[in-house]
Amino acid sequence: MCGIIGRVGDGNALEPLLTGLENLEYRGYDSAGIAVQNGSGIDVQKRSGKVDELKESIGDATLDGKIGIGHTRWSTHGPPTDENAHPHTDGTKDVAVVHNGIIENYVELKSRLAGYGHEFTSDTDTEVIPHLIQFYLDEGLTNEAAFRRAVEELEGSYAVTAMLSGEHVLYAARQGSPLVVGMEDGEYFLASDVPAFLEYTDSVVYLEDGDVVIVDEDGVEFTDLAGNPITRESETVEWDPEQAGKGEYDHFMLKEIHEQPTALAQALEGRIDTTNERIALADFQPGTFEAIENVQFVACGTSYHAALYGSLTLNQAGIHSSALLANEYSVSAPPTDENTLVVAVTQSGETADTLSALRQANEAGATTVTVTNVVGSTAAREADEALFIRAGPEIGVAATKTFSSQAVMLTLLGQRIVGDQHGEPSADLGVLLPELAGMPDALEEMLERSDADAIASRYANSQSYFFIGRGLGFPVALEGALKFKEITYEHAEGFASGELKHGPLALVTPDTPVFAVFTGEEDEKTLKNAAEAQTRGAPVIAVCPAGHRAVDVADAHLEIPETESDLSGLLANVQLQLVSYYAADLLDRSIDKPRNLAKSVTVE
Ligand code: G6P
Repeated sequence: MCGIIGRVGDGNALEPLLTGLENLEYRGYDSAGIAVQNGSGIDVQKRSGKVDELKESIGDATLDGKIGIGHTRWSTHGPPTDENAHPHTDGTKDVAVVHNGIIENYVELKSRLAGYGHEFTSDTDTEVIPHLIQFYLDEGLTNEAAFRRAVEELEGSYAVTAMLSGEHVLYAARQGSPLVVGMEDGEYFLASDVPAFLEYTDSVVYLEDGDVVIVDEDGVEFTDLAGNPITRESETVEWDPEQAGKGEYDHFMLKEIHEQPTALAQALEGRIDTTNERIALADFQPGTFEAIENVQFVACGTSYHAALYGSLTLNQAGIHSSALLANEYSVSAPPTDENTLVVAVTQSGETADTLSALRQANEAGATTVTVTNVVGSTAAREADEALFIRAGPEIGVAATKTFSSQAVMLTLLGQRIVGDQHGEPSADLGVLLPELAGMPDALEEMLERSDADAIASRYANSQSYFFIGRGLGFPVALEGALKFKEITYEHAEGFASGELKHGPLALVTPDTPVFAVFTGEEDEKTLKNAAEAQTRGAPVIAVCPAGHRAVDVADAHLEIPETESDLSGLLANVQLQLVSYYAADLLDRSIDKPRNLAKSVTVE
């Protein structure tokens, strides 16, 4: 995935463009570039590396213009070189384009245009777009008509923004990749995501597939591809720019870990009624899930671990459910029909693998629900219903608060499904809801007292890191290991506790610390599994409440507050997030932007 920004307005566009790129860097940081109209033509500055390096390379050069576009890239076609960085231009440099997505027919388009003498300088799919626009300009079409004609020929997914020399207009189109318009009097933005321009405006319009917009200083024209006017409602974004900044923290990740009490309080607000033991989820009236015979969760990465958490809680409550990797769904989906509920779990709502699974489920006639953080995202719009986790902006590439909020939302959704299926609320609701309501405070207290930094430095420089857990501790072990490898680049693996003895034990040495998560589900067995590793010399770090038997057995421990077994894994996960964070910090890693990764991947 990549981040795109465009800006039209009074004054120099340079600063809003660079600010936009910095705020979009979580979407990709292999290379960056901008293009502005300088009065006599289009000035392009682009290079491999992060936005900071682009800023340095611009230095004191005068890049002056009221209108411009910018891009931060996560490479798909062609390595991250200066040539492959966006914006791309045609041969005459009269057309500049930024793009997020994949142009599937770029090879055919490229060879056709080469036949007409167009020369290409990059390995990207994107470069065909400015050339195609130029081709239609040469045919005598107006700027707008040439843009539309070019977009008509594109196959694949795209959010594309183009600027043509000699006029203060931006042209943009969306098909399958996100694009949002920001509007302030006399100043307009186009961007892949809201944080790009949140410092300038909170009034936004989320574009839909097939939309084409034409933006100048006087406003925004919303049309379909053929040019017919369409209506799109504007919305006010409730995030404030401070939320999108790092504040007092060194990294977004640490800030977002510490935002979890607030995030959970927001996720729960108005949704749980502890007095009447009820869960209210906006669009789901009692009985909604009565006819559902099985529940499939589809997701990737960290969201998959939240999905597994949701699925296991349902299985434990006697509801048939499975968590499936979205990227495997097209080849191995279980039987799906109108009695299946498919829950797409995706913080961004834009992950291509998850969207593809969601579309397949929609086609199969399943009832579909998206659990996401992003209002207006593609997954939110394409599912029958959306449940928003309300975690606020998450900028660190490694997902933290969105995992916790997703798991809590899935717990609520699960309880609603159980209630509908059994004709009455789960007997445990009277216990679970007050514990849920107490989660923000419990987390706050745990964060204040955490020893995760000491544990991280004690076990730094080990060869491998293992994470084990049973029941709801299993997804937490998987997530603990994923977080650790994502940001430390060290080898880490998560296992079901009972699996350790079925192979992985061969790898255990005194140099492989084992983090064991205790959730109150057959803890004695997990303790035995941890002891098996300990006997082979591995240090064991128990993640458990104070006074737990594991504290006496383990070499070290991370304390979590006492709570229901349905929730203690979430607390343990936060301790493991902190361990990963401090270990990565000791290793001086690029914590918020780990190498080779992007926050959401919009290609399959
Ligand atoms: C990328 C990110 C992961 C994330 C996954 C799914 O791979 O690097 O951190 O978990 O996408 O993202 P989603 O937006 O669907 O939750």
